[in-house]
Amino acid sequence: MYKVLLIVVAATALAVPTSVQLEARQPAPFQQNMEAWDSGAVSSYPIHSSCNSTQRAQIAAGLNETILLAQHAKEHVLRWGNTSDLYQKYFGQLPPYEVIGSLDIIVNGDKGGVLFRCDNPDGNCQQEGWAGHWRGENATDETVICDLSYETRRWLNSMCGLGYTVAEGATNTFWGSDLMHRLYHMPAIGYGYIEHYIETYEDALSFAQNGTTTNTHDSDVLQYFALDAYAYDIALPGVGCTGEASSSVSPEAVTTSSATPSVSQSPSQTSSAPTECHTHDDGTVHCS
Ligand SMILES: *[C@@H]1O[C@H](CO)[C@@H](O)[C@H](O)[C@H]1NC(C)=O
Ligand SMILES: *[C@@H]1O[C@H](CO)[C@@H](O)[C@H](O)[C@H]1NC(C)=O
Ligand SMILES: *[C@@H]1O[C@H](CO)[C@@H](O)[C@H](O)[C@H]1NC(C)=O
Ligand SMILES: *[C@@H]1O[C@H](CO)[C@@H](O)[C@H](O)[C@H]1NC(C)=O
Ligand SMILES: *[C@@H]1O[C@H](CO)[C@@H](O)[C@H](O)[C@H]1NC(C)=O
Ligand SMILES: [Zn+2]
Repeated sequence: MYKVLLIVVAATALAVPTSVQLEARQPAPFQQNMEAWDSGAVSSYPIHSSCNSTQRAQIAAGLNETILLAQHAKEHVLRWGNTSDLYQKYFGQLPPYEVIGSLDIIVNGDKGGVLFRCDNPDGNCQQEGWAGHWRGENATDETVICDLSYETRRWLNSMCGLGYTVAEGATNTFWGSDLMHRLYHMPAIGYGYIEHYIETYEDALSFAQNGTTTNTHDSDVLQYFALDAYAYDIALPGVGCTGEASSSVSPEAVTTSSATPSVSQSPSQTSSAPTECHTHDDGTVHCS
């Protein structure tokens, strides 16, 4: 008796809302609103219209080398995990996941949230030694490339040539690593999480050995690792050009052997930058 009643009630309850729902859905068929999950994805780094054809060609090629560097470094970690000597040199015993992700976002991350421009909108390129800068407070998703970049940055096919060593060379010797640094400053890639923690190449090594956990999201350490891996695995297999650090090599100092005789390393550049920003020797500005 109760059973029968229950079935009847249940059937009635189901019948009404179902027909109402069907009717409501009909004017807007499911497929009409269907978009690919990644609709709007941007797969190459945007370069502003202020860049002329030569500037654009070099920035685009430089960004490709950034991707190449990051891709190889990631593959090195995917192959060897945290057991590789090179990994342990820079990241000690830390697990490999953060390094893999920090490199992969350069290669496969959405590229729509950044912009490289050439029109010197903040007027910083006039300052001696400035090869580019993050726009910080003025446009946090934008980086300016100054003319000095085209005169000084090298291509990866010169890796280990011209006196370059990983230990003594600045991380901004190459387009690939310089633009990696610039990408990490933009929130869409670095999230304010990949930042500067070390001051020198020696810091990178000592932090790796004493268990400091910032190396796996340190912009310079990731660049050093990528350069060292590229040199040792790809450019001169099994040899590389690690070199030995003379004391206190700053990651972004201008290399002594490069063709940049006019570059000043005057500390006075610091005073011309906004107070919430710090300026590296070559004029890269970091605003926090
Ligand atoms: C692009 O601009 C740079 C800097 O102003 C200039 O030196 C170069 O000649 C320009 N290239 C072209 C193709 O106009
Ligand atoms: C950069 O790489 C992309 C994808 O591989 C390629 O289509 C493009 O021609 C490259 N650009 C330059 C300037 O090398
Ligand atoms: C690799 O990382 C794991 C996870 O943190 C850790 O337990 C292990 O000791 C590390 N291995 C080496 C060789 O550093
Ligand atoms: C932001 O713009 C102001 C005014 O143009 C300029 O003085 C300042 O240096 C700019 N900041 C950066 C980080 O370029
Ligand atoms: C590791 O060494 C650096 C540089 O000497 C120091 O600043 C840092 O506090 C040390 N970290 C740990 C965990 O010992
Ligand atoms: Zn920086």
